[in-house]
Amino acid sequence: EQAYRHLRVEQQGSALLVTIDRPQALNALATELVDELQHVVAQAAAALADGWPFRGLVLTGAGGKAFVAGADIREMSAMSPDEAQAYSQRMHRLTLDLERLPVPVVAAVDGYALGGGCELALACDVVFASETARFGQPEVSLGLVPGFGGSVRLQQRVGPGMARELIFTGRQIDSAEALRIGLVNRVLPDRESLLAAARETVELIARQAPTAVGNAKLTLGAVAALPTEDGLAVEAASFRDAFTTDDSRAGRAAFLAKETPSFPGR
Ligand code: CAA
Repeated sequence: EQAYRHLRVEQQGSALLVTIDRPQALNALATELVDELQHVVAQAAAALADGWPFRGLVLTGAGGKAFVAGADIREMSAMSPDEAQAYSQRMHRLTLDLERLPVPVVAAVDGYALGGGCELALACDVVFASETARFGQPEVSLGLVPGFGGSVRLQQRVGPGMARELIFTGRQIDSAEALRIGLVNRVLPDRESLLAAARETVELIARQAPTAVGNAKLTLGAVAALPTEDGLAVEAASFRDAFTTDDSRAGRAAFLAKETPSFPGR
């Protein structure tokens, strides 16, 4: 087991629970913390290349006050423009690697998800929030612009009009509004039920064919920005790929035999 300074990583059932644990700075994404997250994701990807030791990743923040309050403003205050660009690119790499994991990532957002925190949640497949969660892209209040993927992923998730309003005003929204605009999937009353819902979702996923869930995730990611016909071509190829897996043979045979499938995971 790897020891991290700003993270806690533990397996709970089928879920790998990753808790960002830097509450004294509201879990702000210091470079050292980003590097630790990158390490966790690399380890997860390596473990998943060998089998399916877990079927989903749950990402949350410690301390009860914040998921992540953004980029680390203290660290950024000393950055040159080139260093700022490298910081942005470091987070781009991390978020792309999260999107490339062959298992879904669930963000369990309790408290503030601001700036880079909102952007980190947007790189997750599914976002659940507690009633006290607050989202926003306050970069313009610091004279900055979104730098950890928000320019791209907020529009994809909530549409261009709402993304513009949030980015240009910097205003915070509560979890009810975040639910209404599609930024979050589900709102739970408190932290306990939030984490329980995240884990239950991973358990539902864990009953499905591992290769199929992985294929579906990567296909959804690949087609998101494509024109319809190009996206459909990618879908047809991935549908074809599904027919090469033992999982699909097991799934189809179990259906016809009226049995519960047992998926080999390949
Ligand atoms: N970076 C570094 N430290 C942070 C931080 C951040 N993003 N957010 C909070 N902290 C620190 C505070 O400095 C404070 O530390 P001290 O106790 O040492 O003073 C501690 O966390 C607790 O925060 P507050 O006392 O401010 O708590 P509060 O309850 O009064 O306010 C808050 C909470 C409204 C979230 C407020 O902390 C805040 O506005 N934080 C900054 C939010 C923000 O602007 N995020 C966007 C950053 S820019 C970005 O992310 C760019 C990008 O896209 C890449």
